[in-house]
Amino acid sequence: MTEFNRELVLGYDLEQWNNFAIKKEISVDISPRTNSHIILSGMSGSGKSYAELGLIVKLILAEPDGEYYFADYKADDNFECLRGTPRYRSFKKTTELLDIVYERLNDRMSGKDKTRNPITLIWDEYMANILALIGEDKKEATKVMNKVSEILLMGRSMAVRFICSCQRPDAIAFPVGSRLNYGIVIILGGVVKSIYEMLMPDYLEQIKGQEFNRGEGVVLLQGIELNFIKIGQMSDIERVKKICIEALSKSIKGGEA
Ligand SMILES: Nc1ncnc2c1ncn2[C@@H]1O[C@H](COP(=O)(O)OP(=O)(O)OP(=O)(O)O)[C@@H](O)[C@H]1O
Ligand SMILES: [Mg+2]
Repeated sequence: MTEFNRELVLGYDLEQWNNFAIKKEISVDISPRTNSHIILSGMSGSGKSYAELGLIVKLILAEPDGEYYFADYKADDNFECLRGTPRYRSFKKTTELLDIVYERLNDRMSGKDKTRNPITLIWDEYMANILALIGEDKKEATKVMNKVSEILLMGRSMAVRFICSCQRPDAIAFPVGSRLNYGIVIILGGVVKSIYEMLMPDYLEQIKGQEFNRGEGVVLLQGIELNFIKIGQMSDIERVKKICIEALSKSIKGGEA
């Protein structure tokens, strides 16, 4: 079995950056020892999708044996370069990727698949996607949410990770308690109290009075460690795109495990 010892830089300490121009990394363990499911939240334009792109590329570089699947509900401009790659789906087709990743999880849980290379499903605009599914077919939407819940609950030890972004993680798309299954919670941009109440209710006092610009905000790690974070700008966007395109261009059945 692969020995995991992996770190992911999420961003930089906001105060150190703004007050002293020091780039102090905020990094997390992304091995299966730790819950590395990620939720990114914040109002439109707060920098979620941009941050996501940065996270994916860092994950790809940290996990050369990783498999990545990208669900982009609204076909966002930030991810235009990924369109057409085999492991990318937008709009009505996002759930195809969920089915693939869910099956991979089940194969690992049943013992049929003994590999443990990291598998990550990234889902941009998850909340909006679930709301649209609920509008079309409630039963199907519930099935989708249940699969996601299972990945959140069982994925860690099977090296299957879920990353999603949404503006507001309302309870309708995050059934009872499921918001607590994310080891890494990031809220970006202008402070919207209701989002903090949903994702980090125990930390409202610490956040009170803070102001954040685009690409800045709060990260809560494993429910206990709160940091103010700055995402920073990607220095070489063409390289970022190239790395992402390459990772998502692997064939679905290719199996690099
Ligand atoms: N950290 C950053 N540095 C530089 N530019 C950024 C940063 N974050 C976001 N941007 C730019 O700001 C714009 C809005 O960001 P982004 O699309 O990521 O927002 P969003 O939160 O995903 O919004 P929506 O919910 O509407 O999708 C984009 O053009 C993006 O390139
Ligand atoms: Mg976005």
